[in-house]
Amino acid sequence: MHIPINTPLHAQRRAAFASNMGPNALAIIPTAPERMRNRDADFPHRFDSYFFYLCGFTEPGATLLIDSSGHTTLVCLPKDLERETWDGFRLGPDAAPSALGIDAAAATNALDATVVKLLGNKDAVWWPFATHEQLNTNVERWLGSVRAQARAGMTCPTTQRDACLLLDEMRLIKDATELATMRRAASISANAHIRAMQRSARDLRDHLDLREYHLEAELLHEFRQHGSQFPAYTSIVAAGANACVLHYRADTGAVKDGDLVLIDAGCELDGYASDITRTFPANGRFTAPQRDVYALVLASQVAAINATRTGARFNKPHEAAVQVLTQGLLDLGILNKQQVGNVDEAIAIKAYTPFYMHRTSHWLGLDVHDCGRYAGTDLQAQQHTPPLTRHLQEGMVLTIEPGLYIRPSDAVPAHFHNIGIRIEDDAVVSAGECELISRGVPVAIDDIEALMA
Ligand code: GLY
Ligand code: MN
Ligand code: MN
Repeated sequence: MHIPINTPLHAQRRAAFASNMGPNALAIIPTAPERMRNRDADFPHRFDSYFFYLCGFTEPGATLLIDSSGHTTLVCLPKDLERETWDGFRLGPDAAPSALGIDAAAATNALDATVVKLLGNKDAVWWPFATHEQLNTNVERWLGSVRAQARAGMTCPTTQRDACLLLDEMRLIKDATELATMRRAASISANAHIRAMQRSARDLRDHLDLREYHLEAELLHEFRQHGSQFPAYTSIVAAGANACVLHYRADTGAVKDGDLVLIDAGCELDGYASDITRTFPANGRFTAPQRDVYALVLASQVAAINATRTGARFNKPHEAAVQVLTQGLLDLGILNKQQVGNVDEAIAIKAYTPFYMHRTSHWLGLDVHDCGRYAGTDLQAQQHTPPLTRHLQEGMVLTIEPGLYIRPSDAVPAHFHNIGIRIEDDAVVSAGECELISRGVPVAIDDIEALMA
């Protein structure tokens, strides 16, 4: 996989990371292993996001070693003409320092020796806890090898620290280069949703046998056509009642006249995820009950978007969405006032959860559910029960994705049964209003109907 490497940017990130490790420490950051899908067939390799963030290198089998001064060694696969004939080009340790702007490199057969040499006489070792199988046992083994050289005068680190603690917070605030990539990813995904909507309306007008996988094919075409390397997650294309299954995948379901279709799909571009959900009428025209529920979900998303701004707590948009959704559920008679009380009483007992059972937002970045703490660490947050979430800051990117999922039940008017609606956009937190980077695909009822007409 070829992704252009901005070496000065990665050097800056490594320097910032290293300067926060404290003196005389070493960080060990491996990339992801290759994984077998079945027999001889591997899953497509996807690098580890922390590793990629720090050096931009996409080959498997590599480990990054960074000391407190920022001095960086890469351990990578050696050149091997025979393997390269089968698997493709390898950079190799001789070319790695100049290509990646790092200080030194070694081949994977020298991993143990290289790590042990660099760990000797260090006070602390940083590595990403609970992210790679076997890494904890490898670190133990390397520490054991260092300790075995005590009589030769070598001292062994006495502290292990979680590298995620530093890297999660760095990754949470996106720089201009990351934001530019994320805007492009969101724009490709928005066009993919448009393509799927138009295919749906066209095929139903032509009375064709349209299936969920046909709409998935439109998404994948648009992603790949514009250079996206992968979908950022398995696409959800859920027709009719399937939309009420939250983790449904695009399958063989028929896309029928009169049904809604929920598509949750986003591409990954140069490592960065986008994450968009749209729900639209298969034939291009909302029915009256579909329109009522859609308008409610959209109003709740508008409330959440308005609450997404620098200085607000992370949970504010969720609370804003829940307020609007609960009031709307009462107004539509989906929640019964006699049973759950007024809107505040209904929220207090979480009466909305049979219809809205997920949260409104998550961080977005190299990972679709990106890293970064959600809890607040300020005094006010800590003293509150339950503890409050953190404050939003400029450069954070999060999704805003309220929804309603109405399964058949005697307690709910029948014309709402099996309606599942989510609307999801990607927002960059800015000084004033947040910037929605995924609105290349329409969201208003009239705009969707116009697009599909
Ligand atoms: N597509 C994953 C999510 O919306 O969180
Ligand atoms: Mn999401
Ligand atoms: Mn999503």
